[in-house]
Amino acid sequence: MATQTETEPTKKLTFAAKFESKDLITFDENKVYGDWRDEFHKNGCVLIKGVISEERAKYYADKQIQWLKNFDLGFDENKPETWTADHLPVSFKGGMYFAYGSTHEKMAWEARTEPAVIEVFEKLWGTKELISSFDGMNISMPNRTDIKWSPWPHCDQNPRRLGMQAVQGLLNYAPNGPNDGGLMLMKGSAKLFNEFFAQKRESADHEDAPPPELEYMDLFLFSEKDVKWFEERGCELFKVNMDPGDFVLWDSRTMHYARFPEGNQIRHVQYICMTPRQFADDEALEAKKHCFENYMGTTHWPHCNIRPAAEKPMRGDKVCPKYRTEPFEKPVVTDTVLRLAGVKSY
Ligand SMILES: [Fe+2]
Repeated sequence: MATQTETEPTKKLTFAAKFESKDLITFDENKVYGDWRDEFHKNGCVLIKGVISEERAKYYADKQIQWLKNFDLGFDENKPETWTADHLPVSFKGGMYFAYGSTHEKMAWEARTEPAVIEVFEKLWGTKELISSFDGMNISMPNRTDIKWSPWPHCDQNPRRLGMQAVQGLLNYAPNGPNDGGLMLMKGSAKLFNEFFAQKRESADHEDAPPPELEYMDLFLFSEKDVKWFEERGCELFKVNMDPGDFVLWDSRTMHYARFPEGNQIRHVQYICMTPRQFADDEALEAKKHCFENYMGTTHWPHCNIRPAAEKPMRGDKVCPKYRTEPFEKPVVTDTVLRLAGVKSY
């Protein structure tokens, strides 16, 4: 990475952007696991109950509130009048946080290294040698009137990548019912990925679509017509309702988006994604090391398409005065953290 940044200071945004065209691990379709894996392989997504305890989930939700307060912008979780952009750090879609070193906060790494969270991915991939993305978190206040919001059904896999190559997850910290902000999933859509993209498709135009020059390699936005295409083929768009401590997994080919929160509940989520280290090449591992050492985030992809999140949080055309490049609480760097970061080998 060092040499690349020296020779190409601004050009290269994404490292190890390779496009595999088949499943990276072959799963026996007839195998019966007798657990959540059966549903996952059938539908491309699954809700796993009680991966961490309710108490532990509350610990993380409180930590996230404290994180918002650390910015000293007047945010108060008990005063809805302070649930506005002026009182909050800069987020995407009203609650996704990737900047300010947040992806490497102590709480983010504590969540990634929860033994039961790691175990989910160990079981899924059939290996203990995993690496993690440096993904963001979602803290969404309900009923905000200061933001514009519209659904943005998308998938986080480039149409050129075929087969199952990444599986995303989120760890849920707060009660999450039908009116609360939460994950919408198009059940079954991962299986139809190849069929859908067998013909040329244009990513839909959306007000929140990142500009092409930012080169998000693994993002495709679906139009309303596309949503119907999947529904006509038996897929079902549904909201995942969750209790604190639950975990959701979805194949990155699955259409999804976050529902706008309309209940009374603040949404608290950490996005977590792990894949086998063997999927990563040296370029990917080097880029991950750079991100880890500089507290930079990545996309959901742990092993390729490593895109150091170097963009500064903007308030209008100005960099947020609270811009920072380090977490408030630095992570405790254990061997597990270093291995999941891809820095240390197994
Ligand atoms: Fe996504």
